[in-house]
Amino acid sequence: MHKGKISILLLAIMIVTTAQLYQVAYGKYAVGAYNINNIEQTIGLFRGCVDSQAPFIIQLSKGARKYTDKRMLEAVIRTAEEMFPEAVFAVHLDHGDEETCYDCIDSGFYSSVMIDASHDPFDKNIEITKRVVDRAHAKGISVEAELGMLGGVEEDISVDEKHACLTNPDEAVEFMQRTGCDSLAAAIGTSHGAYKFKGQQSLHFEVIEGIRDKVAAAGMKPVPIVMHGSSSVPQSEVERINAAGGKLDPSARGVNEEEYLPAAKLGVTKVNIDTDGRLVWTRVHREFFRDKPTEFDFRPPGKIFMDEYAKFIAHKNGKLGSAGTLPEVRKAAGG
Ligand code: G3H
Ligand code: 13P
Ligand code: ZN
Repeated sequence: MHKGKISILLLAIMIVTTAQLYQVAYGKYAVGAYNINNIEQTIGLFRGCVDSQAPFIIQLSKGARKYTDKRMLEAVIRTAEEMFPEAVFAVHLDHGDEETCYDCIDSGFYSSVMIDASHDPFDKNIEITKRVVDRAHAKGISVEAELGMLGGVEEDISVDEKHACLTNPDEAVEFMQRTGCDSLAAAIGTSHGAYKFKGQQSLHFEVIEGIRDKVAAAGMKPVPIVMHGSSSVPQSEVERINAAGGKLDPSARGVNEEEYLPAAKLGVTKVNIDTDGRLVWTRVHREFFRDKPTEFDFRPPGKIFMDEYAKFIAHKNGKLGSAGTLPEVRKAAGG
């Protein structure tokens, strides 16, 4: 669909490369990267981004590609593209293994892939990432790679233990130099899912700053940092779900949304959000069927969900600072 170049279809439909979005946003705001699995989520996502005038990144996980079929998701995205000609977005593989990265690179549909070999030792991670980078770059596709251990960092552990879990800025520079990856998923204290932190924790801004400064000192161009596990897990959402029959642990806690923009100013350019959207789905459907126990048509709650999801996305884009930037992005991308 797009191999390193912007593809402008019809009047204004615009899929851009992830690299182009990074170029416009770096140091100013973060682009929301939202996972999708079905039609309702896709429509809510496009509507929310057009309403808030924000560019975005669609993320497809291995699980999403298997849930219905990867071809189904591709068709849904292509249709949404036609339904929302104003939208400006990139398509990205989330948490790929080597085989899935190659499948996406060869498909011609993706703007970027993530190779997640962070569980492997440093040198092995570099070896795998480098192979994917070589194959992706040959087709004009950019690569996100992960270094460090994503996970909540308990408050009561020692400073040394804390930093063993977080990305080491010196290692990050070596990793990027040896792999040539285009963006770095760094461990800055967040984790996936609804139970991220205990106590009063926040993002490790010193790690983000450390990476930015060491990259500059090494004479490299600025590297966009990707924040995984960025859902904020709103307390109100957890309470509504539980009031409607859910049994989520009330200690569920996420990233403070007010920290998105300060992190973006330091170089966090892609912010991955999935769990918060799942909470919206769960709240809408639990409340709907609690209030209408005789109902069994899934379309009425589906419609509510699309509206609520669009509002949720527009709200997030506001917090990320990407809302209202569409004209500037379109201009920079040549549209
Ligand atoms: O980081 C993982 C994303 O939330 C995607 O989750 O693998 O269950 O689709 P998934
Ligand atoms: P959350 O679980 O915080 O939404 O993180 C999603 C993510 O990192 C997808 O890659
Ligand atoms: Zn992730």
